[in-house]
Amino acid sequence: MQAITRRLGQHSLRPTPSIPSINSIYPLSDHYYGGDHPRYGSTLASHKGMGHLVRKGTGGRSSVSGIIATVFGATGFLGRYLVQQLAKMGSQALVPFRGSEDNPRHLKLMGDLGQIVPMKYDPRDENSIKAVMAKANVVINLIGREYETRNYSFEEVNHFMAEQLAVIAKEHGGIMRFIQVSCLGSSLSSPSRFLRAKAAGEEAVLKELPEATVMKPAVMIGTEDRIMNPWARFAKKYSFLPLIGDGSTKIQPVYVNDVASAIVAALKDDGTSMGKVYELGGPEIYTVHELAELMYDMIREWPRYVNVPLPIAKAVAMPREVLVKKVPFPLPNPEIFNLDQILAFANDTVVSENALTFTDLSIVPHKLKGYPVEFLIQYRKGGPQFGSTVSEKVNPDSYP
Ligand SMILES: NC(=O)c1ccc[n+]([C@@H]2O[C@H](COP(=O)([O-])OP(=O)(O)OC[C@H]3O[C@@H](n4cnc5c(N)ncnc54)[C@H](OP(=O)(O)O)[C@@H]3O)[C@@H](O)[C@H]2O)c1
Repeated sequence: MQAITRRLGQHSLRPTPSIPSINSIYPLSDHYYGGDHPRYGSTLASHKGMGHLVRKGTGGRSSVSGIIATVFGATGFLGRYLVQQLAKMGSQALVPFRGSEDNPRHLKLMGDLGQIVPMKYDPRDENSIKAVMAKANVVINLIGREYETRNYSFEEVNHFMAEQLAVIAKEHGGIMRFIQVSCLGSSLSSPSRFLRAKAAGEEAVLKELPEATVMKPAVMIGTEDRIMNPWARFAKKYSFLPLIGDGSTKIQPVYVNDVASAIVAALKDDGTSMGKVYELGGPEIYTVHELAELMYDMIREWPRYVNVPLPIAKAVAMPREVLVKKVPFPLPNPEIFNLDQILAFANDTVVSENALTFTDLSIVPHKLKGYPVEFLIQYRKGGPQFGSTVSEKVNPDSYP
């Protein structure tokens, strides 16, 4: 623990003697770590003494599921879908946020009054992490970032923070389930530092909490995604899309809501998903080029690509990597030319043969074509009904 907090630049926590590890959520312990401690200023009502997990209602938004989940990283893309699913079954979601009060504002409406509790915290201050976990019986870690900033390295965000959450959850003593969201393709031998840090994060969490569940989603698609949106923006702005390499890398994109459903399914099971690692890929494998075709089809533009060889793509992305920690001001976040992602996308990333998948959680993932990519109609020039699909289109170059 000392090592982790030192790496996070903070003072160490005093270890608690004889810490029980996490258990199945059935039955729920009535001990909450420091729930009544004045230092932990949670606004939640105390459930002390309620004994077993109390469930009430028909399972809808106004029911009580008994799950009180601290969702780290809930202000991000996956977070909103997960909080919505938790809230609609009557769970309480504690939403730690840094920065502005506006960051978690959209989440508050997802649940009944008082069910979504935004709590300001500092990811580098373990007391504030304890405060947001104090009343929880479930911890879900969605924290992650696929590029470095001046303040945060890949390792700190994707590895050390996960490790610290696991250590604190273990010390808490009342956390029944810990879900770590990692990334498909994470490996200690990956050429991408992000994927290496993700793999180290998984390992660290499982070392602390062998009963934790690890979810490894493939690249996620949805309204706020960070693949189809940047592609569509780029294609609209410059009338072409750079295809790094020749676009033949295989990926298995997954609809974001399915990943949220998988996490909820794991929470709701009888403990069978505890200590397991799930690889969450969509039902179809695409090449990067095929996925770009789907994007063009949705935005109703004629596809134009510029193949960018790997060394040139790396050269374009390199200056940010070199300068990010050196200049005294923040640099723009990389979208298409993110060096680490270029390295990650150099290899195929699909679900491995013997992995546990959606099927093991009784979920049938959605095909991308259709509703999951419908958000792209916002990029059609002339409005959502404009134009025709690529398959119906005539090549404009063939006009006289
Ligand atoms: N998006 C994908 O296609 C994809 C694919 C596979 C795996 N994943 C993984 O799935 C998880 C969720 O992904 P996502 O797309 O929802 O990510 P996201 O939109 O980037 O959100 C990441 C969350 O992590 C928080 N975070 C980032 N850096 C932080 C820091 N230094 N300190 C504290 N919090 C920090 C963000 O908080 P702020 O709002 O305060 O920045 C945000 O709430 C991540 O672990 C990601 O690596 C994502």
